[in-house]
Formats: sequence, C-alpha cells, structure tokens
Amino acid sequence: MSERAEAERLDAEDPLAPFRERFVLGDPDVIYLDGNSLGRPPLATRERLTRLLDQWGSELVGAWEDWIDLPVRVGDLVGRAVLEARPGETIISDSTTVNLYKLAGAIIATRPGAVLVPRDEFPTDRYVLEGLARTYGREFHEFDTDRIEGPVAADVQRAAERAGEVAAVVLSHVQYRSGALADTTAVEAAAPAPVIWDLSHSAGVARAGGIGLAVGCTYKYLNAGPGAPAFLYVREDLQAGLETPLQGWFGQHDQFEMERAFDPQPGVRGFLAGTPNIPALVAIEEGARLTEEAGLDRLRAKAEALTAYLVELSEDWLAPLGFELGSPRAAERRGGHVSLRHPEAWPICRALIEVEKVVSDFRGPDSLRLGLPPLYTRFADVHEALERLRELVASGRHREVDSARKRVT
Ligand SMILES: Cc1ncc(COP(=O)(O)O)c(C=O)c1O
Repeated sequence: MSERAEAERLDAEDPLAPFRERFVLGDPDVIYLDGNSLGRPPLATRERLTRLLDQWGSELVGAWEDWIDLPVRVGDLVGRAVLEARPGETIISDSTTVNLYKLAGAIIATRPGAVLVPRDEFPTDRYVLEGLARTYGREFHEFDTDRIEGPVAADVQRAAERAGEVAAVVLSHVQYRSGALADTTAVEAAAPAPVIWDLSHSAGVARAGGIGLAVGCTYKYLNAGPGAPAFLYVREDLQAGLETPLQGWFGQHDQFEMERAFDPQPGVRGFLAGTPNIPALVAIEEGARLTEEAGLDRLRAKAEALTAYLVELSEDWLAPLGFELGSPRAAERRGGHVSLRHPEAWPICRALIEVEKVVSDFRGPDSLRLGLPPLYTRFADVHEALERLRELVASGRHREVDSARKRVT
C-alpha cells in the first residue's frame, strides 16, 4: 500500500484520470491539495473567457440579449450535474452567504419558531441565521454535534425538542473542517421543519438525496473561479409561497417594464436580485460541464478511494509523528477532503506550502486540511504529498518557518 507503484496502479485504473489534462496545471512540482477551497481553472474556461471578451468588444450592450438568461440556464446545468434537479429548480446568483440569507429569510417568513444551526457550522451560515433570527424576532439555537463525525439526525431531533417550535434548520452536507458527510435522508426525516442544506463542500463529490432546499459555492469542486457566484435550489413542490426578502429587478416579472411595483417571477427565478456577473457565469458553465461529463457516480467513487488512500498512508506514516485523523474513519462518511490533527498544525501547514510545495490549508485549532478533488487529483499526488509531509515533520524543519498567522489560512 505504501509503495509508489500502488499509487501508479490506482492512477492507471482511474476512469477519471484523463480529466486532469483539461485543467491549467502550472508548476509540475507543486501538489495542489486545496481545491476544496478554490478549484483549478479548466482550460475550456480560459478559451471561453477570451471569447466573452471578444463578444463584449464587438456586440457591446447588445450582448445582454444573449447573457440575460445565463443565471437560469447555468442554474439548470448545475442543478442537473450536482443535484439531479429538474429545470426551473436552481439558479445562480450572489454568494452562498447572500443566497442563504434569501432562502432562509423566505422560509422563516412563512413559519413561526426558532432557527437551528450546528455550533460547529461554517461561520457565515451561523452569522446569517443569527442576524435573520434577530430581524424576524426568533430564537437562535446553536446545537452541539460531534467535532469529527459532524451533525447526525439525533442531534437535530434533540435540538428541535429543546427549541419547541422550529421554523428552519440549516446545516452543511459536508462539514468544512472534518469533511464529515451528513446523511441527508435521515436528517430530513428527523427534522420538524424545512432543512436548508449548505452544499458548498459537497457539490461535485457527493449526492444529497431527498433534499428540498439548498445553497452552495461553485468555486470549489465546480472549478468556477475565485468569487464566482453561488447556486440556490428549491425543489418544485416547495416553491409556491416562498418570497425572497431581497427584492431586486432581476427577480421581477417583465423586468424592463420599469414603472411596475415588485411582482416576482414564479419559482426559483424570483430569488434573482441584481445584475449577474457574466464572466463568472460562463466560468461556472464550463466547470459544471466537466462535472456533468465525469458523472456523480464516478466522482463519488473516486472521492472515497482518494480519501481512503490518504487515510491509510497517514496511519502508517504520520500517526507515529503525532498526527490524528480529524475526519470520519469510514470512507462513505467523508466528502472530498481529509483533516489531520496535530498540535503544530499551523507551522506544519506553512512549511508544507513554503518548503515542500504541497498546498493545503489550516483550520483552527489544530487541523491540516487536505483536499482531493477527484477531477484532477492523482493517487500519486497523495503518495508524494504524504511522503513530503512525513519527511518535513520527522526532520523538525516545520519549526524553522515564520509561523506568524497570515490574513488567509
Ligand atoms: C460551507 C461554506 N459555506 C459558505 C461559504 C461562504 O461562501 P461565500 O463566501 O461565497 O458566501 C463557504 C466558503 O468557503 C463554505 O465553506
């Protein structure tokens, strides 16, 4: 298992291996294990952005005729590729933060009760929900979950019993630190109120069965680029009666009939707000096409195989150096990244990037996060990265780097 030949055998058998060549790869000595934070640029996106510039230059404002429906068209593609959604259930707009505000605000306006969110949820989600609870005069309940295993149905049930009446539950499908994959079907069955899923760390590596409401990033496993807007999904049967609290002209019926009062478009399109970012939308389209072509079954199988390979190597090589697994042990309970805990995780992360050219990230207080996007990560990358990590820590050279905290970790 720990021989490089084994990694090479796994790569040779990998049906997704040819996808790697469809990305901008840069320095061949750099091992990129942070695509769960920012995916790599697809080659097709480079060409598409050049074409967009030409179109902008030649057609000028007239090109809006072609661009205006991109949030819906690309939304349908992302919905199909990632959520197995029907047309008309997904749009692209704003950031995940803003989409969560719009969707949770719409749900809360239709139901009485408290808002529930795991205490360990990604900060922006907690902040949005806390703010909405204050605006709508609701109780805001943060509930405890296992730090490694993430939220399970029983946690949601317990929190709901304590809260009494519940308006909405918000949680991530894949926990941002540990990579734990929640059981969407079990949580949906246990929740006494609509569940809004944050799919940021799962879109493109895991199926979210049985969900009705979701938001999520496109710049991670969908490779749409820094700051690309997010998706917002509402299953058809839940759309009636939901009204965005952020009324904007792109959500308006006949938006160029300027003198009218706000009358939102039906369904999910009513959640559009302001002018969409067209360069980012075409980048999402190219990224999502690759995901659709690869297919969720193959992406899921490779995410499990890659993370399992990393966990096995880390047990052999890294446990003796003080590392502990910070992710669920069972591969089917993980998303596309693995966390390794170590008391010196921050200087190790810095040295791994600066000295060993293995790009990872750090999530406090003690986790080194290693992301393995299945579209372009090779088993040989995992082998090489862990070999470099083992040598770094065994030699103590991680103590020689400047360990001042950076603005971005
Ligand atoms: C789980 C999760 N939710 C939300 C966000 C924030 O998304 P945005 O900054 O696009 O609003 C992130 C960003 O990494 C995330 O990981």
